[in-house]
Amino acid sequence: MTQDEQKKAVAIAAIERVPVGRVIGVGTGSTANYFIDELAKIKHKIDGAVASSDATAKRLKSHGIDVIDLNEIDDLSVYIDGADEITRHLHMIKGGGGALTREKIVAAVAKQFICITDQTKLVNVLGNFPLPIEAIPMARSYVAREIAALGGQPALRQGFITDNGNIILDIHGLQILNPVELETTLNQITGIVTNGLFARRAADILLLGTDKGVEIIAN
Ligand code: A5P
Repeated sequence: MTQDEQKKAVAIAAIERVPVGRVIGVGTGSTANYFIDELAKIKHKIDGAVASSDATAKRLKSHGIDVIDLNEIDDLSVYIDGADEITRHLHMIKGGGGALTREKIVAAVAKQFICITDQTKLVNVLGNFPLPIEAIPMARSYVAREIAALGGQPALRQGFITDNGNIILDIHGLQILNPVELETTLNQITGIVTNGLFARRAADILLLGTDKGVEIIAN
């Protein structure tokens, strides 16, 4: 299977895990887009979707799927999204599309996080993919210095502003042996809105596209 075929296969597999009669959380990116397109076929079975980005909200609406404000609901049974890197412990790097803050909020609310990726995303150690950091614009230089002090090499994502009006710094050169610890450390740096490590709230299930089909990895 090609990478795109794997993305589509995991999107179809995730549809089987969509709870009937509920609102679900929907992620951002090319794999999430495949999922949204499949979700459109069963849209009458759900009560709507919480979007993790403006782009996802637009795609959901284009399919006639109701987009629900997260503040209007008390709980969310499931969140389905891709990742830029994921380990077998289901720790992830996310934010390649710049939607990490809203993704982390929806993931925090969801009882279950189902990650859907092709096999290229599965790694032993996180960090080959540059770690995205969303930061308040006026804190850019300060945050960059703090990250350099931790051993990373921050690069401003050129010409990119998040849905929340902030900048993204992509951190190169990290070998993240303890993702929970680094996520916690980055959470303490003033001016960082969100870091792209999803380790404190990891995925619960990974649907991994492989040449042989969809592999299920659960925590
Ligand atoms: C969006 O900000 C990211 O967290 C995405 O979940 C991630 O980039 C995966 O995207 P693809 O499915 O396009 O690889």
